[in-house]
Amino acid sequence: MAAIWSRGGLQGILEPMKTIIEPFRIKSVEPIHLTTREERESKLREAAYNVFLLRSEDVLIDLLTDSGTSAMSSNQWAAIMRGDESYAGSPSFYRFETAIQDIFGFKYVFPTHQGRAAERILFSVRCKPGDVVPSNTHFDTTRANIEHTGARAVDLLIPEGREPQTIHPFKGNMDVTALERLIADVGRDRIPLCMLTVTNNSGGGQPVSMANVRAVSTICRRHGIPLYIDAARYAENAYFIKLREPGYASRSPIEIAREMFSLADGATMSAKKDGMANIGGFIASNDKEVAQQERNLLILTEGFPTYGGLAGRDLEAIAVGLYEALAEDYLLYRITSTTYLGRHISEHGVPIVQPPGGHAIYIDAAAMLPHIPPLALPGQALVVELYREAGIRAVEIGTVMFGRRDPVSGAETPASMELVRLAIPRRVYTQSHVDYVVEAILNVHARRHEIRGYRFSEQAPALRHFTARFEALE
Ligand SMILES: Cc1ncc(COP(=O)(O)O)c(C=O)c1O
Repeated sequence: MAAIWSRGGLQGILEPMKTIIEPFRIKSVEPIHLTTREERESKLREAAYNVFLLRSEDVLIDLLTDSGTSAMSSNQWAAIMRGDESYAGSPSFYRFETAIQDIFGFKYVFPTHQGRAAERILFSVRCKPGDVVPSNTHFDTTRANIEHTGARAVDLLIPEGREPQTIHPFKGNMDVTALERLIADVGRDRIPLCMLTVTNNSGGGQPVSMANVRAVSTICRRHGIPLYIDAARYAENAYFIKLREPGYASRSPIEIAREMFSLADGATMSAKKDGMANIGGFIASNDKEVAQQERNLLILTEGFPTYGGLAGRDLEAIAVGLYEALAEDYLLYRITSTTYLGRHISEHGVPIVQPPGGHAIYIDAAAMLPHIPPLALPGQALVVELYREAGIRAVEIGTVMFGRRDPVSGAETPASMELVRLAIPRRVYTQSHVDYVVEAILNVHARRHEIRGYRFSEQAPALRHFTARFEALE
């Protein structure tokens, strides 16, 4: 395996070696299939140019999501064999609970089948119609679960976080002045909790600084508002703090994580990201009364509190994975490999959201394909082209996903940005895979002027990106 990640600006770790390797060797392999251009053309036609409708076996490099797509370690597989499937009181649950209490420091821990189930339970217990829940940026399932209770989800990201080209070390930070203003405007009683998403997925995997977590926590505590962290990518966020925030260079990721969560009152997590698991999540807090209500709801919809919709073996995989995600050699490889992809395409003129985030690179399709107007779906055109060129699957985050169609007139309103996300599964691809992706993107970039737009031929009224069908424009 040729594994030579260039250091790419990350300094001082594992000196004197400059070469950063994948910190694992491969024990079990999963074949991926090369296809011809003609085959890909026919698969695209069959899928009506929507890559969600492709079969994954027809995809060579799958960058659709980093969620639930991690490769598990031999230790996780060993733990899976230890999984105890007892309905109640399984030792697998106690190992899961102990790991979460150790890293996150919360007393009450409930497993859920994935992150959005934790969100649904938390917001059902804490929110009511008319409430307002601020965050740096709510992830879409978080927003949807808040709105489902009749409350309003408000994003208070710092202005730099909304500017793709602006370089800032912590573009995921919350605007604390805006938070103070919101509390003054709507009143503390209408804000049942405040959230912080680390790293900020919707904002490009950008981190939140410890100083910002502390500032938000201080404001929340002053007003008696509980602060919850959406911890899906907590280990990547801890590592960015170590690399970028003064005073943290010599601290270990687990120490940084513990400090971060000591500033919060609870957390929800999709363990499909930094839990290194293929399924699972949890909700945790220190509030006995809220925990009691959560437990009741959990039993109603997820399962008994010692399994919460998961198999005992899943709990075991997460208990091990949460620590593996904090290993420094892994995090160095993780952040470097994402940066490597971003740097190698941006150095050749491909416009991306800067600086590269933790789990994904976002190409600015509007800037790359300025001849395709937003309503001719430039992001979708680029996604199709990456598959056509090299069998790579990415996802459009632009007008297809976030544009709005008036149900009466049919008029379309475009999204504010036209991005294409390349999400990197954890421990799955090597440097040669990423070099292949770089080459494909640069090939597409070189012939970008020939690329044409698309239009919807069919679309569902909600979440249309999953099932829409498209036609190429002449
Ligand atoms: C930040 C964040 N929160 C919550 C979720 C929801 O988690 P799940 O997909 O496990 O329901 C995701 C999933 O992508 C996420 O990225």
